[in-house]
Amino acid sequence: MNTLILSGDNEKDIQNAGKILNGGGLVAIPTETVYGLAANALNPVAVQNIFKAKGRPSDNPLIVHISEFDEIYPLVKFVPEIAKTLCEKFWAGPLTIILEKSDLIPNETSGGLSTVAIRMPQSEIARGIIKASKCPLAAPSANISGKPSPTKFAHVYEDMNGKIEGIVKGEDCTVGVESTVLTLATNPPKILRPGAVSYEDLRKFIPNLEIHHAVTEHLENDEKADSPGMKYKHYSPKADITISHLSFNEYKQFLENNPEYSALCFDGEENEINCKAVSYGEIYNSKSQAQRLFSALHELDEKGFAKVLARAPKKNGVGLAVFNRLIRACGFKEFKANVKIIGLTGTTGSGKSTVANSLKKLDYKVIDCDKISRDEETYKGECLQKLIKAFGSEIVENGSLNRKKLAQKAFVSKEKTELLNSITLPVISRKIEKMIADYVNLGAVKIVLDAPTLFEANADRLCTHILAVTASKNLRIKRIIKRDNITEEMARARMNAQHSSDYYIERADFVINTDDNKIDINEFNLYLEGN
Ligand code: TXA
Ligand code: MG
Repeated sequence: MNTLILSGDNEKDIQNAGKILNGGGLVAIPTETVYGLAANALNPVAVQNIFKAKGRPSDNPLIVHISEFDEIYPLVKFVPEIAKTLCEKFWAGPLTIILEKSDLIPNETSGGLSTVAIRMPQSEIARGIIKASKCPLAAPSANISGKPSPTKFAHVYEDMNGKIEGIVKGEDCTVGVESTVLTLATNPPKILRPGAVSYEDLRKFIPNLEIHHAVTEHLENDEKADSPGMKYKHYSPKADITISHLSFNEYKQFLENNPEYSALCFDGEENEINCKAVSYGEIYNSKSQAQRLFSALHELDEKGFAKVLARAPKKNGVGLAVFNRLIRACGFKEFKANVKIIGLTGTTGSGKSTVANSLKKLDYKVIDCDKISRDEETYKGECLQKLIKAFGSEIVENGSLNRKKLAQKAFVSKEKTELLNSITLPVISRKIEKMIADYVNLGAVKIVLDAPTLFEANADRLCTHILAVTASKNLRIKRIIKRDNITEEMARARMNAQHSSDYYIERADFVINTDDNKIDINEFNLYLEGN
């Protein structure tokens, strides 16, 4: 078959794509999530051709795409209030909702189920094509079944050229992972597939929302799949991938000791590891990881990597969608860390010390990183010589380091501060590593690094998990005034010089909010045991 290449920027091409679809043909179209392989959702023969082109099992139902909210009514039996609320908030966008289907939806589209999945994409091109086709469009991802989903025109071209009537070329997909699939046909409602509209986003509207356990776990062979897509091998590149839950430093070490592995890491890390590597987004930016994951999986194959160790994404927010795709691409292979090293951090007044104390009671070993950096012992020897060379002999008094003088000399410019850090941070880090090793030798398996400047000091590289403590700004101010006996003005100034709570939340695997002054440390402990 000769596949027509159309442009998403060209109105004539959009109309042409619509005409082909209306006539029962197949056209791959860009959406904000991934490219979709579209056909008239109400035409059973056209829908069957989607399954043929993809090599997809026919019991796996398709998502029906619409261009306006009101187009949902003829497709379902009933639209509950909660569906209206969610669509108002998240449509047009990467959220698919499942409701009882109307008789208009053929069994071919719903995979024989009594329900139907509906989504209104945000992409203007996609909505333009739906409008031009004058019908709702069934559109699974436009890849051969089992392969990573396509987020670039080139991916679609590789899998679909010669098999379908047309491909509409658009920009690379901005979201990069498929839509969140939420079923409202069960009570309580459940997330069947995580996406860019996160569990946390949806829970604000559905307090009893659940996440299907197959999102993060392997479905047992004889278990019934609530979403047929769950049971199929997915997103697999040719490379044999394993997810690493090790700290970055251990990850680096593992790769050094096992040269048969390549790396799937975060941006910038490839410069620090001595092996072939592909990166898939910024370390503390799940959105960027979502956007890049599938193209990174494609790249692993283009580069011919055989064995790959992947850095683990976070499992909260959009990170859950990234984890869900990656764990499937890995065939559920994970390296878990034997010893869990938890970076405990947060702004001043957030209640970090109280959390540290509660953890001690649960037999976590806590290392006070601030104390190490304040202790002049830390800098003795070679480090002190380097400091003198950099900042002059005035920083030494009676043979030992005067930290106040050093601060006066160092914190005068960005360059000087960086110079100071380049000398002291590795020394502090080595000392922390030594303390960790000592605890491990004594049999500890849960070690906490209590570190307000965890990220600045690069101590997050030693951690397997990040635990952030937060509290509302007003409460933090009150606590600092009381604790340090300072004026409100000073407390506010100190607060404003620090990172916002969001800075820590974005980076954390788990967040404890201390606003009600009650700390449920058991919840964290349970989380850690499962992760
Ligand atoms: O972002 C997206 O949703 C993309 C773009 C193209 O819009 N489409 C997409 O479709 O990912 P597809 O077919 O690859 O994934 C649809 C998923 C499958 O896991 C399927 O099992 C599930 O939704 N699904 C569809 N209808 C369902 C239903 N009635 N009940 C349960 N699961 C359903
Ligand atoms: Mg798919």
